[in-house]
Amino acid sequence: MPQPVLPSVNSSHRLGLDPINTPSRLLLGPGPSNAHPTVLQALARTPIGHLDPLYIQLMGEVQELLRYVWQTDNRLTIPMSGTGSAAMEATLANMIEPGDKVLVAIKGYFGLRLADMAGRYRAKVVTIERPWGEAFSLEELEQALITHKPAILAMVHAETSTGVCQPMEGIGELCRQHDCLLVLDTVTSLGAVPLFLDAWKVDLAYSCSQKGLSCPPGLGPFTMGPRAEAKLAARSGKVPNWYLDVSLLNQYWGSDRVYHHTAPVNMNFGMREALRLLAEEGLENAWTRHRRNAMALWTGLESLGLELLVPEELRLPTLTTVHIPEGVDGKAFSRHLLDHHGIELGGGLGALAGKVWRIGLMGYNSTPENVERLLKLLQSELPAFRSSSPAMASVG
Ligand SMILES: Cc1ncc(COP(=O)(O)O)c(C=O)c1O
Repeated sequence: MPQPVLPSVNSSHRLGLDPINTPSRLLLGPGPSNAHPTVLQALARTPIGHLDPLYIQLMGEVQELLRYVWQTDNRLTIPMSGTGSAAMEATLANMIEPGDKVLVAIKGYFGLRLADMAGRYRAKVVTIERPWGEAFSLEELEQALITHKPAILAMVHAETSTGVCQPMEGIGELCRQHDCLLVLDTVTSLGAVPLFLDAWKVDLAYSCSQKGLSCPPGLGPFTMGPRAEAKLAARSGKVPNWYLDVSLLNQYWGSDRVYHHTAPVNMNFGMREALRLLAEEGLENAWTRHRRNAMALWTGLESLGLELLVPEELRLPTLTTVHIPEGVDGKAFSRHLLDHHGIELGGGLGALAGKVWRIGLMGYNSTPENVERLLKLLQSELPAFRSSSPAMASVG
């Protein structure tokens, strides 16, 4: 056989690089947060096959521990291969049939994302809104359920763009009374803020790996309860997203173990280790740790004369929004912390862009030492940035 004549190799994109060498950073922004060292070790283990009996056992362990951290007995509880947005999309892709009315309660950036996604699955999207920094009352939600009669209410528990924690008591009950499914975004609460999915009657929820669970980004925990399963089973058409179709995924994650896609096995090694650590600490202890460290941060920030956006009763322990003081270039200060101290803070999103810093204390990073380190730096270095003079601001 004559050998095929191949074109000559184009080397114009061939970069001569050194092996990767990333700096050490303390990630105190909205996420990702730093991963726990033993999670990183788990990620670095030799992969095994995604149908290996040992991996199948690990899948069951991950599912069971996810049920623990969410406080749910939902059979269909799996880590989606993808980030939090993939898991968010999975809830909507599986539930929405064209023309279904979806009510999205928006009080920040991620509520807007839910509304955008629901529209892409051809839902009739109706929205109610609160100003960024506030939460919904039960009365407002009830009124909207009465007015709009939606099939689904979607909302964010921990709104990362504002630092508001939505009080959940009574919302699931209302949804049942109005024959509506409740979808809850728990991306910035899972593992760090009290969550009781079954007691709160939440029908579907999703989260991410990179915040309260102390893993790198890459997995999106997903769960659906019996009422949502019934809606899925009654669909007249296929789920319009093959990759996120839970009935297909459940053939792999359920008892059949049929190949669906090649699972990111190492990410699930990391997830197992992260959940194992959380179970070892105990959920209530993890919640208390997050609250205690956040309260120390709030007290320290206020004693430095900084103002917090959210009233204390609605504040998230995982994410604190601080007003950037008058005359300070917020971006320049964050850049200074990153360049000179290896610390990442977040800036404002959407309506809060340029107005706030977002400080995350999530999972492995929620420690008194991190709080103290940041407060000390704010005390010693922020004064130079209070001047509008760029020369002053380049101190350090
Ligand atoms: C509340 C909320 N929902 C959804 C997402 C999307 O998750 P991801 O960026 O992992 O796709 C985020 C990301 O930070 C979030 O904070």
